[in-house]
Amino acid sequence: MSQDRRSFLRTLGVGGAGVLSMPAWINARGLEAGTHAEASAVAATARANGVIKLDSNENPNGPVPAVIREVQKNFRAAALYPARSEQPVRDAIAKANALASDQVMLGCGSGEVLRLAVQAFCSPSKHLVSALPSFESPAQYARVLGLPVREIPLDSELRIDLAAMARESRGAGLVFLCNPNNPTGHVHSAAAVKGFIEEVLRTDPEVVVLVDEAYHEFVDDPAYASAAPMIANTPRVFVSRTFSKIYGIAGMRLGYALGAPATLTKMERLRLPNGIGGLTQVAGIAALSEPAQLAKEQRDNRAARAFTTKWFTDAGYTVVPSQANFVLVQLKRDAGAFRDACAKHDVLVGRVFPPLTTHSRISIGTMDEMQRAVQVFKQVLG
Ligand SMILES: Cc1ncc(COP(=O)(O)O)c(C=O)c1O
Repeated sequence: MSQDRRSFLRTLGVGGAGVLSMPAWINARGLEAGTHAEASAVAATARANGVIKLDSNENPNGPVPAVIREVQKNFRAAALYPARSEQPVRDAIAKANALASDQVMLGCGSGEVLRLAVQAFCSPSKHLVSALPSFESPAQYARVLGLPVREIPLDSELRIDLAAMARESRGAGLVFLCNPNNPTGHVHSAAAVKGFIEEVLRTDPEVVVLVDEAYHEFVDDPAYASAAPMIANTPRVFVSRTFSKIYGIAGMRLGYALGAPATLTKMERLRLPNGIGGLTQVAGIAALSEPAQLAKEQRDNRAARAFTTKWFTDAGYTVVPSQANFVLVQLKRDAGAFRDACAKHDVLVGRVFPPLTTHSRISIGTMDEMQRAVQVFKQVLG
């Protein structure tokens, strides 16, 4: 890791002194969909030094060098309101995805896109369809708004049950498909996703499908492909992506939607104007400027994920084959107790995803972190 990236992590108190002395906003960053109370409870059990943070599927190497360079160089722009058009970063995202910039909408993380989708397409008479467990934020937000939610259990192999999801899409406002799914890391093939979307669109004349591709860049499976090309044929499908995972800028809050302009407009009008800071936009452009770095992040993740998977498998546990930067392990014991016990040894693992209360989701850190973390897992699991 470069000196810049190491000192960035030290600044955040990760891999060095500072977790307990970090300001509240950094502590709260600790769980990607958890509450502040949960985050501080976990952080409070961690000691100040040497915490290994495997709880939020972040990039353990920090932002790529170009991001650090460009943000430092442009820091004086922090005095200015961000450009309303967000044009340069939308252009960069559009170019990276071979789309036009009016097919791109930014979000304060892809989490904002997910919320806007629920707000724009669901209503008291049009429910949300999601898998259970899956990334829970759309369902949580629908409940906050008092909107109906139908959550479809995973199948016996912990895959999203596409047929059951399609059946529940009659009369729905929004169908949320997380591919790869969080927390399992399972990915559906391009053919399966296309067939599913076609079936959903046939089932209901108005329903909209959101494919969450937060972990898109980690997928190796040759049968997988993004659903983004489908946006050209129908305004009833759109895709969300994020800079929080492989691009390593979760703290700067940048995500985006790819969709037909008419679909994006329905969400755009609900956004907070000036919601994406100028430096965040600079960081997004810089992150996309280093494709070689992306390949390195993919390689590092693949190697550390293989190591972790093998360690658990050799120890007799079942690991869901993952296409993302985390693994879900069947521990056959209470996952909350495992998480708390690991936290006492300064290893933070993911929250529990009911109803899978004996599975632990473990984010992939650096190889060095995983080699140290498995020593703690060994001690805790006995
Ligand atoms: C599947 C999925 N979607 C969306 C998000 C939201 O991430 P962000 O708001 O940082 O883009 C996450 C965060 O962990 C996630 O796992």
